[in-house]
Amino acid sequence: MAKKASTSSGRATEGGRKPDTSSSGPSAGLPPKPASRRPSAKSVEPVRQAAEPAPLRPAGRASEGFVWRRKDLLGLDELSAEEILHILDTAESFREVSTRSIKKVPALRGKVVALLFFEDSTRTRMSFELAASRMSADTILFTAKGSSVVKGETTLDTVRNIEAMGVDIFVVRHSEPGAPHMLARKVRGSIVNAGDGSHEHPTQALLDMFTMRQRLGRIKGLKVAVVGDIAHSRVARSNILGLTKLGAEVIVVGPPTMVPSAIRPMGCQISHDLDEVLPQVDVVNMLRIQFERFGSNLFPSVREYHRLYGMDAERLKRCRKDVLIMHPGPINRGVELTSEVADGPSSCILQQVANGLAVRMAVLYLVSQGTE
Ligand code: CP
Repeated sequence: MAKKASTSSGRATEGGRKPDTSSSGPSAGLPPKPASRRPSAKSVEPVRQAAEPAPLRPAGRASEGFVWRRKDLLGLDELSAEEILHILDTAESFREVSTRSIKKVPALRGKVVALLFFEDSTRTRMSFELAASRMSADTILFTAKGSSVVKGETTLDTVRNIEAMGVDIFVVRHSEPGAPHMLARKVRGSIVNAGDGSHEHPTQALLDMFTMRQRLGRIKGLKVAVVGDIAHSRVARSNILGLTKLGAEVIVVGPPTMVPSAIRPMGCQISHDLDEVLPQVDVVNMLRIQFERFGSNLFPSVREYHRLYGMDAERLKRCRKDVLIMHPGPINRGVELTSEVADGPSSCILQQVANGLAVRMAVLYLVSQGTE
């Protein structure tokens, strides 16, 4: 578990340390070590910070001196609000790296990151790969298709064999809920959950919250609609867990087959009427219909689903003028969203993808520092 450390100095964002991601200088591009391990705050104060403008300080930042202790990131269920804010604050600092002409820091030099994708992915896989590369780690990629999994090798045997090659961090996407948790108990390296079945997708929710905070200046007090197949969505679960921990109000919206009342104990409101909800909310997060998992068994027809729960230009008029339209991708155009909305000014879908890189850099960096 992460705890607060007592520290008297060291510049920080509001509640969050600002990693030194510079590629030169006394800390050679490495974010400063947690406060408890610092020989003295003065010795790690990055020289360049003195000349920098004060950082953006949106409300709700984690406290100064926070010490990250986890070696794995398995889900938002087990994280405290402070830990979530610490990841977002750390990502804020790593975002700057992508604006440089040389987009590389040595934060994970000498480390090996294995990307284990037992299930298909575009955004998450490439984002983790680029994040690891920007921090100078070596990466190896495993995809189930074309591997010895096809010959019957188990997930655990696969991962143990890859670990024998000297891997430090495993990024795992798997169709079985709980697969990353099982691996975290069996291997020595760090495990990062990149989506496990319909259970959790923590880095997606983190990048969603990062984007909300970036665009709207806060998370606490926001009203967020999450629309679609809540019952089977790992993105929905992680968003509900993270947003409610940070003090946002979440309304889940969809047909009763996708939004069972059993979801209420997670701390969200339930609605089956999107048009009624839209005028009330700051953010609308449209979930993908997972045709590959469930076909269209959960609603009468795609056309009916779009008519009741799809976002189009007419529905957008019911929203607040500054509403933020989100989608984790990949989009089913014309089902969850029309192209006019997906590519329009209220959409921040590509900004979500861009922010995913900084969030995943932060996650890889933090778990590499964790010991528990
Ligand atoms: N949002 C998301 O997880 O996309 P991918 O499946 O392409 O990684």
